[in-house]
Amino acid sequence: MPTSGQQPLLGSAAEDASAIQAAVAVADPEQALETLARDVVGECRRCRLCQARSRVVFGVGDPRAELMFVGEGPGADEDRQGEPFVGRAGQLLDKIIAAMGLTRPEVYIGNVVKCRPPENRAPMPDEAATCMPFLAAQIAIIRPRVIVALGRVAVEALIGDAVRSMSSARQRWFDFDGIPIKPTYHPAYLLRNPAAKRPVWDDMQEVMSRLAER
Ligand code: URA
Repeated sequence: MPTSGQQPLLGSAAEDASAIQAAVAVADPEQALETLARDVVGECRRCRLCQARSRVVFGVGDPRAELMFVGEGPGADEDRQGEPFVGRAGQLLDKIIAAMGLTRPEVYIGNVVKCRPPENRAPMPDEAATCMPFLAAQIAIIRPRVIVALGRVAVEALIGDAVRSMSSARQRWFDFDGIPIKPTYHPAYLLRNPAAKRPVWDDMQEVMSRLAER
């Protein structure tokens, strides 16, 4: 078995698929995520994003979280620290989480791509497609009750389809493998458009109501 710091297993889609299956099958979610991060994602070199990144940003939070947030991909701060949403957008996400009566360690936070796209560009479709099996595996391990998709890249990657606009996408719920997905605006968009904070809060109230259902 490779250990931390070695090259990931890799390469073929078939090898990846069976390594992912093995990680997802680990009964304890914490160990399953560790196995996925260490033995499957590793120091990934499956797409061009590996060339400029400093660190793979796997994801953070409670392996048994009921609520999961999915963003687009690491920025400069995340690339430096190896943790998602730690820059200005992350501070705003922390406030949103706190307003929901939760703390960052109680939720799980991940991204569509685990390596920083250069110059903070959006991930290209082939980069998102290459990384998606790892996000899908994180979701399969955690099995959150609700996923909040932050911004268009996350929504489109999770639903596997294009959306007309975020303002229309956020009007409805989608589904990922039986898990309800709520689209909302990305925190970086809120930093540029503070007026969108109100609709995001409306979306989070829908999420809280959903989480309160039993
Ligand atoms: N934006 C994202 O989409 N993800 C991060 O981790 C940070 C900023």
